[in-house]
Amino acid sequence: MDCIKERRSIRKYISKPVDKKLINEILSAAVLAPSAKNRQPWKFIVYSAGSKDELLNAMEKGLIKTKAELSNMPNSEYLLSDAFNTLRIMREAPTVIMVLNTNGSSPFADIDTFARITEICDSLSIGAAIENMLLKATELGLGTLWIANTCYAYNELADFIGTTDLLIGAVALGYADEAPAPRPRKSLDETAEYR
Ligand SMILES: Cc1cc2nc3c(=O)[nH]c(=O)nc-3n(C[C@H](O)[C@H](O)[C@H](O)COP(=O)(O)O)c2cc1C
Repeated sequence: MDCIKERRSIRKYISKPVDKKLINEILSAAVLAPSAKNRQPWKFIVYSAGSKDELLNAMEKGLIKTKAELSNMPNSEYLLSDAFNTLRIMREAPTVIMVLNTNGSSPFADIDTFARITEICDSLSIGAAIENMLLKATELGLGTLWIANTCYAYNELADFIGTTDLLIGAVALGYADEAPAPRPRKSLDETAEYR
């Protein structure tokens, strides 16, 4: 409960690298998550230093392309500037862990209802694994940011990683250079009801 309460999305990091032993502890916590039919559909690819720079160069290329493509869409300026801000944070964090669904494929494919339900269950399973990572990192004194803005550079990132698995997102990991106050939460009255 302490880690649940203390965890924050961290968007400023110091440059100190994260020891591989700690990263392995975090990934070991991830894979203890429950998963639909125990499929364990997750894969984690850890990028640090030069490999992270190359990954993020691919992401930047993708964001620039998407920005041009979506320029007429309402709200696209906000969405893309948020994505570029996330990219800046990922550059600052010493480690970025890409999270893949090994049971999924391209988000651009037409899928039937059964496949969609399977994909929802796998996404939920991977979400549980990611939350385990964030909580374990908090326990180890590390900061994290759960990232979905990778979706705006989907093809470039999948090509760079060299995968046809479904890219779920990323987790930025490092030592925090900020201590944000808790972000607001809806009240139980708004979110729960007893019948
Ligand atoms: C699925 C998911 C995707 C997210 N994607 C991003 C992101 O791309 N960039 C970012 O800065 N924050 C991202 N966040 C972090 C949320 O903005 C953050 O969790 C929320 O504002 C609450 O703040 P807290 O985590 O400090 O409690 C994401 C969170 C989740 C769960």
